[in-house]
Amino acid sequence: MRSTTESPIILKLIITPIIICSFFLFLGVLTRTSFTSFLQNPSSIFQTSNSTNVPADPQESQSTTPTSCQSLPFTPACTKIPPSLANSLVHYATTKITPQQTLEEISVSLRILEKKSPCNFLVFGLGHDSLMWISLNHGGRTVFLEQDKSWIKKIQEKIPTLESYHVVYDTTLHQADELLKIGMQEEVCKVVTDPRFSKCQLAFKGFPTDVYDTEWDLIMVDAPTGYFDAAPGRMKVIYTAGLMARNRKDGETDVFLHDVDRIVEDEFSKSFLCEGYLVEQVGRIRHFNIPSHRTRLSRPYCP
Ligand SMILES: C[S@@+](CC[C@H](N)C(=O)[O-])C[C@H]1O[C@@H](n2cnc3c(N)ncnc32)[C@H](O)[C@@H]1O
Repeated sequence: MRSTTESPIILKLIITPIIICSFFLFLGVLTRTSFTSFLQNPSSIFQTSNSTNVPADPQESQSTTPTSCQSLPFTPACTKIPPSLANSLVHYATTKITPQQTLEEISVSLRILEKKSPCNFLVFGLGHDSLMWISLNHGGRTVFLEQDKSWIKKIQEKIPTLESYHVVYDTTLHQADELLKIGMQEEVCKVVTDPRFSKCQLAFKGFPTDVYDTEWDLIMVDAPTGYFDAAPGRMKVIYTAGLMARNRKDGETDVFLHDVDRIVEDEFSKSFLCEGYLVEQVGRIRHFNIPSHRTRLSRPYCP
């Protein structure tokens, strides 16, 4: 027979491990749930007031079956992170090279992508930010235009799904003053039309046909190079981005331009993307929101 003092001790010995196990089980479920929701919406670390979740593309959502969540018995419904986003996370978590735009600058276009993505996103320039833009526009179409063939090859090796095209520019930076004068003075440069048919010298005609035939929701101008005299400069790209935005059938285009601390980027954006369409400038990036001019032909080139 056990003594009466032994009973509470035995009871304690049984109950204490049960309580400890339950606590760790609860902690495990809690941690896993919040980590999963962070992976599903990583942009929430910035600003989420207007955020919309980007739907996974159909191919990737097929892998989201209830059987893949068996280890989470207390979660009524769960979704798996799309493999391409998982790769992107791992890439940026393990690389020491970061994009040139700062967190504050990236957040400007991120806020618009949160509203518009999945959408048509045209990016001038390939770089260490390319995978980020593709991931932030998950399920949409992100196209890159790049002047340097070998640089395309290098990035393509890292991102095999990359959609990018090589572009040969026909200007050099030292033509900037003359081109600005032409753009400001010649009436043909105020005519809203498909850039391929424009009579303005600033309209660039060397993009792939599909670039002109697509209605771009966002355009990021971070190329071509424009920091030395022999570089192509962004004169034509800035003008042509503005023209494509005005010439779309309807709706608005958000145009972002980096390096506005430089004279060409500053002057050409004020003249052709227009101060009246400027939404904000953060650091060295400017965000313009340009409406279609085809829906109201009486609109002045700049408001
Ligand atoms: C201002 S950079 C764009 C950089 C990109 N936004 C980034 O954050 O990495 C413009 C151009 O510089 C060139 N470029 C940028 N980084 C490069 C690199 N590491 N090697 C070679 N060319 C580079 C590319 O031709 C690119 O289109």
